[in-house]
Amino acid sequence: MGARWSARRVRSGRGPRAVLIDSPRGTRRIGSVSSYQSVFRQSLFAGQTVVVTGGGSGIGRCTAHELASLGAHVALVGRKPGKLEQVHQEITAAGGVAKGYPCDIREEDAVKKIVAAILEDAGRIDALVNNAGGQFPAPLESISQKGWETVVRTNLTGGFLMARECYTQCMKAKGGAIVNIIADMWQGMPGMGHSGAARAGMLNFTETAAFEWAPVRVNAVAPGWIASSGMDHYPPEMATHIRSLPRKSPAGRLGTESEVSAAIVFLLSPAAGFISGSCLRVDGAVPNAKRAFEPRGRTPAFDGFHLASTPKVLS
Ligand SMILES: NC(=O)c1ccc[n+]([C@@H]2O[C@H](COP(=O)([O-])OP(=O)(O)OC[C@H]3O[C@@H](n4cnc5c(N)ncnc54)[C@H](OP(=O)(O)O)[C@@H]3O)[C@@H](O)[C@H]2O)c1
Repeated sequence: MGARWSARRVRSGRGPRAVLIDSPRGTRRIGSVSSYQSVFRQSLFAGQTVVVTGGGSGIGRCTAHELASLGAHVALVGRKPGKLEQVHQEITAAGGVAKGYPCDIREEDAVKKIVAAILEDAGRIDALVNNAGGQFPAPLESISQKGWETVVRTNLTGGFLMARECYTQCMKAKGGAIVNIIADMWQGMPGMGHSGAARAGMLNFTETAAFEWAPVRVNAVAPGWIASSGMDHYPPEMATHIRSLPRKSPAGRLGTESEVSAAIVFLLSPAAGFISGSCLRVDGAVPNAKRAFEPRGRTPAFDGFHLASTPKVLS
């Protein structure tokens, strides 16, 4: 009995090389060696234009690759043209179609113009992945008005502007789907309260838009601790804390960019046709655990019960 499985690399048409697995049950194509290994059907988004904000790095870059591998034409939005050009070249090399549209999503006029430019090029926008975002760690008491407003504009106002323009300029007439990327901010976001407030606002916006803009579907994805480029933007003193996160997760690890992308792709797909106004958590159940903390003082207790007694175990 020799080895009965083998892998071959072949080129089909003008596309990139594909991997064919030969097995006793036949030959199976598992994708291209130089392209994304999605669990979704290859032509799922064929002919569709999808806008991915923050597509120049991290989760947005990964999602742009997956959508392009599934046939979408991807419009990459971000502030830095160099990052968008890099991802454009990566996607082109993998056989996909993408184009960069530099824009600061916090600027209303710029957002109006960039959405119009995408429509001018592509003719329609079928989906929006509202992923651009970011924040700086700071306790609430030290956040200035300027710092607060900057983070809220990035993570709430910018997402609203992108969604509103995609809706009014195209989706209102032609339909579509929107996924807003938020964060694990349930029960607060200690150390990043400005971002938590903005993300909670984005979830509420998602719920309102799902109703007002139906049949356009609007959902949210809330990533937890994801091993992405965003983690490198925190100050060096947070490195020890970041490295300890896998031990604090019920999954025993951080999430991958692909695991967030898969959730986004599912919500944009026809399989999610009856899902709108929802939020899909991609966090390995971290928020389900009670967080340990060091007490900084004691709150005064109220005890008005005249027959109260201390449980023996505590006395
Ligand atoms: N990684 C995690 O653990 C995690 C967890 C929860 C939520 N998230 C959220 O998921 C999203 C992606 O995170 P990531 O880890 O992939 O971070 P990332 O690599 O820092 O990506 C954020 C992207 O947003 C773009 N961006 C930021 N401000 C912008 C603005 N004003 N206008 C246009 N583009 C802007 C950045 O590009 P430019 O610099 O070129 O503008 C960048 O490409 C973010 O919203 C993040 O907060 C991440």
